Amino acid sequence: MKKIVIKCGGSILDELTPAFFASLKELQGHGYRLVFVHGGGPDINKMLAMYQVEPEFHNGLRKTTKETLEVVELVLSGQTNRKLVQKLTQNGFQTIGLNGSDGNLLQADFIDQQSLGFVGEITKVNDQLISILIQEGMIPVITPIAVHETGQKLNINADYAAAAVAGAIGAEQCIFVTDVEGIMVENQVVHSVEKEQVEKYIEDGTIYGGMIPKVTSALSALDKGLSSVMIVSGKAPFFNGEEWKGTKIIGKEWSYHE
Ligand SMILES: Nc1ncnc2c1ncn2[C@@H]1O[C@H](COP(=O)(O)OP(=O)(O)OP(=O)(O)O)[C@@H](O)[C@H]1O
Ligand SMILES: [Mg+2]
Repeated sequence: MKKIVIKCGGSILDELTPAFFASLKELQGHGYRLVFVHGGGPDINKMLAMYQVEPEFHNGLRKTTKETLEVVELVLSGQTNRKLVQKLTQNGFQTIGLNGSDGNLLQADFIDQQSLGFVGEITKVNDQLISILIQEGMIPVITPIAVHETGQKLNINADYAAAAVAGAIGAEQCIFVTDVEGIMVENQVVHSVEKEQVEKYIEDGTIYGGMIPKVTSALSALDKGLSSVMIVSGKAPFFNGEEWKGTKIIGKEWSYHE
């Protein structure tokens, strides 16, 4: 079974176009089973502002106190996940929303409790649960909240979560859908970037903020054996049956042919 994990950025959720859903249909037509992981930065920030909490980031990762975690789960699970499930359903896709802590779907450890708080990295994915759903033709839409072995919930950057899920279920590809057409270098979208270039771009600031977790998790997904990772826009068609539009990230030992 060919599988694709699609990470849908909170940055783009309200702006997904019919062209985007048409690309999804193309993928299904090519025999791909889809699994979604969603972000929710803007929804979370809006709610934090209502609570008068200033968002704080460290290399693109959200510092998460106990209070922030409560808001994050409330918003991601109760609002953002619902929104994406509704949109997919309205566009004719059979969809089921899941919190990452349901059925131990996402299990995680703290990254660095001192500096980041309740932020985790995924150690295990209940891939069986995902298999059951996609075999039945359902599209799981996963909220990136995980459980620690103590039962504590942890906030997971959605890009990291998508890459971990993609690795765990043996997906062929992972696609990061965001609010830009790909990685921009000197105001131009680049067609592809290699590992060394990515590292250089992070160092010189060409890649910053929310693009950092995207490219680092892309590289880790490639290490786990995925054949392709792309960054695409949610406003435009990204797959027309033959060609992809966006930036392709290329791992080290990968030779890339057009
Ligand atoms: N070189 C780059 N090219 C393109 N975008 C970049 C680059 N460097 C940094 N960015 C920023 O990365 C942003 C995308 O990441 P961001 O985290 O904001 O969105 P997202 O991951 O799609 O949404 P969410 O975090 O809510 O899931 C772009 O809007 C842009 O501001
Ligand atoms: Mg992001």
